Amino acid sequence: MQMPNPLLSIADFEAAAEKQMTPAVWARVQGGAADELSLRWNQEAWRQIRLRTRVLVDVSAIDTRVKLFGQELRFPFVLAPTGAQGLIRPNGDLEAAEGAAAAGATYVISSSASRRVEEIAHHSGGPVWFQLYVQRDRAFTKDLVQHAEDAGCSVLCVTVDSPTHGTRDREQRYKSQLPTRELPNFAGPDYLDPTLTWKDIEWLQSFARTPVVLKGILDVDDAEACVDAGVAGIVVSNHGGRNLDTVPATAEALPAIVDRVAGRLPIIVDGGIRRGTDIIKALALGAVAVQIGRPYLYGLSVASAEGVAQIVQLLKKELELAMMLCGRPNIGAINRTVLW
Ligand code: FNR
Repeated sequence: MQMPNPLLSIADFEAAAEKQMTPAVWARVQGGAADELSLRWNQEAWRQIRLRTRVLVDVSAIDTRVKLFGQELRFPFVLAPTGAQGLIRPNGDLEAAEGAAAAGATYVISSSASRRVEEIAHHSGGPVWFQLYVQRDRAFTKDLVQHAEDAGCSVLCVTVDSPTHGTRDREQRYKSQLPTRELPNFAGPDYLDPTLTWKDIEWLQSFARTPVVLKGILDVDDAEACVDAGVAGIVVSNHGGRNLDTVPATAEALPAIVDRVAGRLPIIVDGGIRRGTDIIKALALGAVAVQIGRPYLYGLSVASAEGVAQIVQLLKKELELAMMLCGRPNIGAINRTVLW
């Protein structure tokens, strides 16, 4: 008798991934800051939102394409920068990028990858962006940006919510069991720079050849400052609940930011997106696209590049079905009226 396929949802991949990873790597991937309240709220907040269906709309052709930073994305989600691939599998950084490319997804290469950004970008063969931590060594930082751009990274996503790491208790408990890993995109072990200010963003913009996007915005005044700074876009994010516990879920923070920005910048959101219905809700609230973090790490752990591609396909399929059932055949038709 054939067994039913157990991997139908992100939750299925999550359960399978927990069995694959060592407890220490699982704690690193899955954990959040302190009591993990924001981590939990991220998922809960999307689930709390109700959808509204419209009937008798021709949804025979669903178009998930979206334009962002002058690029066409095949669907409105990208794979978020996460620095754990090398812990999950020895060649995890390359396999994740490969899986993303195979499924047509944009892959955001993390500064904390275990391989050099150029190596991952060249290996990928698909669309890639680069996530930057501005490091204390500014000459190294500038050089790194130029390498990433030369290698084809087409957006510079600067993470600005991390003057320091969060208190990650779950991860700390297993710290001694985590294998050491290479961090070739960092000048040294003490890489986060708490002196970072808007002046440094100006400095980055003075030489970056690609759109500069700021990741980790939760506050409306910071969003306004992003507009003033002339950045190309923002990522509303609480770092997957890993930095400061008890900040709001990103689904809660998003609407006010969308209202304040009022179309002057494209807004991406991440945190707790686990279903196609979560994606349609984020777009309904005004995001142009979302980022997916942990789910593709589950896929990587379960089935390497193929698993990452499966996660992308699964979410794309779920999004298409949600669009059909809500009566919204294309992304332009998704707005706040999709919400109950
Ligand atoms: C991250 N995230 C992250 N963000 C970033 O800007 N640079 C980084 O190096 C990392 N590293 C990282 C490692 C791991 C293991 C995780 C889970 C997350 C945060 C990431 O980009 C994104 O904001 C969240 O993962 C989104 O939340 P979900 O989708 O994981 O719930």
